[in-house]
Amino acid sequence: MTSSDIIDNYSRQINAINDQIRKSPPMGKVASYIPGLDRVPPDLFGMTLMTLDETVISAGDSKTPFSLQSISKVFSLTLALKAVDEELWDRVGVEPSGNAFNSLIQLELEKGKPRNPFINAGALVICDVLISAYDQPKQKLLEFVRFLVCSDELSYNQSIAESEKKSSYRNAALINLMKDFNNIKNPTDRVLDLYCYLCSLEMNCESLAHTFLFLANQGIHPSSNEQVITPSQTKRINAIMQLCGFYDEAGEFAYRVGLPGKSGVGGGIIAIKPCQYAIAVLSPRLNKRGNSYQGIHALELFTSSTASSIF
Ligand code: DON
Repeated sequence: MTSSDIIDNYSRQINAINDQIRKSPPMGKVASYIPGLDRVPPDLFGMTLMTLDETVISAGDSKTPFSLQSISKVFSLTLALKAVDEELWDRVGVEPSGNAFNSLIQLELEKGKPRNPFINAGALVICDVLISAYDQPKQKLLEFVRFLVCSDELSYNQSIAESEKKSSYRNAALINLMKDFNNIKNPTDRVLDLYCYLCSLEMNCESLAHTFLFLANQGIHPSSNEQVITPSQTKRINAIMQLCGFYDEAGEFAYRVGLPGKSGVGGGIIAIKPCQYAIAVLSPRLNKRGNSYQGIHALELFTSSTASSIF
């Protein structure tokens, strides 16, 4: 197949998936535990694939912004690796947790060292690392994601961030537990503040596919040709996405979709095919594990019909 045949095929499949999902009965529920997320129209569906040469193929509500939530944990991990590199792994592991994203149980048993950077405990340690590394971590993070997406319009959603902070008893408990094990160095409220703002970043499927292209491109930002992280750091982040990006459903995602990816309770999913593309999906209804019900289904249909899983 020529590259234009491949693009035509991707485009046909994405349009067919959009039609199929829109005809299927609604499954799952929109996240309601963070005030503000429950106001999202539940039956949005959007999908964007972007190839390394920045060809964009979109269908449905691909231009509707949504709350990235845990998807943003990949940005904070990338920035922390840039700041402290391998030292990071003294404070957070790289193993799947097999537990819910906000669970406290394992953390107590494992003496305050989170299993990986994507469960909430791990993402909170990463925020602590960023606060120690940068004078203005919130601004630094925003500038970094703005650079990746090539737009100064991207912003935190202050009202989502502040409302999450008010109901973040469990995240505060995780921070305090880790503080007791000396794995959090900064004040609890500063760590919680950065974490909630990180999760509140908003963008649409087209921007999301764009921001993740560097992970499909050996760490090189395709728009500027800048090396964001080394190929080895890129390998590590993709491996962690593959094994931990969907919490206690990571095995199921690998089995059904077969790409490194990351989900968020805003209903978004991003996945990458190394050396080929990044693909973003939005479908806000979640399954019991907090992952987008139809988002996983859509990606399964896509990698099956295009034979483009990594396996
Ligand atoms: O900490 C929380 O609960 C949210 N800000 C993020 C959770 C999330 O997106 C989990 N992913 N599926």
